[in-house]
Amino acid sequence: MGITLKMRKMAYLKEGTAYRELARKAEGFFGKICEDPEIGFTGLPENLVYVDRCDEALNRLPAGSETLYVLGIGGSALGTSMLINAFSGSCIRKVVVVDNVDGSTVNQLLREMNPETSVINVISKSGSTVEPLSLFSIFFEHFVAKLGREEAFRRVVVTTDVEKGALRQLAEEENLISLPIPGNVGGRFSVLTPVGLFPAMFAGIDVVPLLLGAKREKREGQSRAVCGAVLDYLFQEQGRNIKVLFPYCDRLKTFGDWYLQLFAESLGKLKNRRGMVVRSGQTGVVAVGVTDQHSQLQLYKEGPGDKSFFFFTLENQENIPIPDVFGRYPSFQILRGKSLGKLMLAEAEGTMQSLEKNSLPVFEYTLSGIDGETLGALIFMFEMQTAITGYLMNVNPFDQPGVEEGKIIARKLLED
Ligand code: PA5
Repeated sequence: MGITLKMRKMAYLKEGTAYRELARKAEGFFGKICEDPEIGFTGLPENLVYVDRCDEALNRLPAGSETLYVLGIGGSALGTSMLINAFSGSCIRKVVVVDNVDGSTVNQLLREMNPETSVINVISKSGSTVEPLSLFSIFFEHFVAKLGREEAFRRVVVTTDVEKGALRQLAEEENLISLPIPGNVGGRFSVLTPVGLFPAMFAGIDVVPLLLGAKREKREGQSRAVCGAVLDYLFQEQGRNIKVLFPYCDRLKTFGDWYLQLFAESLGKLKNRRGMVVRSGQTGVVAVGVTDQHSQLQLYKEGPGDKSFFFFTLENQENIPIPDVFGRYPSFQILRGKSLGKLMLAEAEGTMQSLEKNSLPVFEYTLSGIDGETLGALIFMFEMQTAITGYLMNVNPFDQPGVEEGKIIARKLLED
């Protein structure tokens, strides 16, 4: 069980003075972030209260609830998608994440939906984001048309700020099932609150290992988070403005999407903490191996040298032997006695080596597998790494003024 970060050919980096000094600073930030009461995500791994709250909410749902529609966006949706994608093989109930206001998608969902066996989980930390609020209005009205208002309300779970916002007020006035998002946990850091825990538990995912993995990473994973933060900082200084995540595993595709949001909103900043214009941040990209080897690798290997590469490989994966059915053809012969797992690892290693041949920076996270503890550890590690990188860059990793401004303009346009 666990995660190893291999520096491959870049191990010499650690010897450099710049690396050592930054690592020393980053270690200090690790402790500072854990102790700051205004930063809530670091306290979540030890907190089982939310698991109990989610359990109570599940018990209040009408019997026969089979499908959960999660209506949220950004940090209120991507963590759930990550968990459902990672554990889809063991889910016993369906969770559908609706994070866009595309009429054709919504119409399709409404056509397929059976309100008698469905539940709406509207999630918004602020309680005022227009996308989930509009989706909630549409889905709720659809429920009311089929079930009546009282029964429709029994099938709503509201996840929002503990005390503020329109959704909190609505939940209290209508006595709805509701779950809290703590005030000191920002949207993109909230997957281990009821934002991600409730939908995961509805699907039948055991969330306790996630918390245990995160807790273990907090205790033992400091050097990994520090190393990742220093690398991101150094690559940005060198003008490597693109960070490519390369998981060799379909089940980590949405982990990549979750991380890209965390990384983009936390570190992409116009100004630093002193108010100076810095235009910081790298652009994240997710490429899934092996699929994207055949679509993006050419550019990565031979195009602009402005990227750093982080691979994710699995030590243990579901292994399917490749049967020797067509061995009489030379192209099939090489597959004799091999398995998909072996093929996947050979392809990953081949890709890493070919990038290294062009002197590109390649790192490898080796995961024992995709189990709850490993994913929990990955979540905590990347949250911490992102926060530390922000501190090294002297930008605030916990605000998102750019997103907020867009929300305000959109609201104004709607008023016209
Ligand atoms: O990370 C963030 O803060 C954002 O991505 C938010 O999660 C997103 O804008 C949705 O906000 P809210 O949960 O308030 O609806």
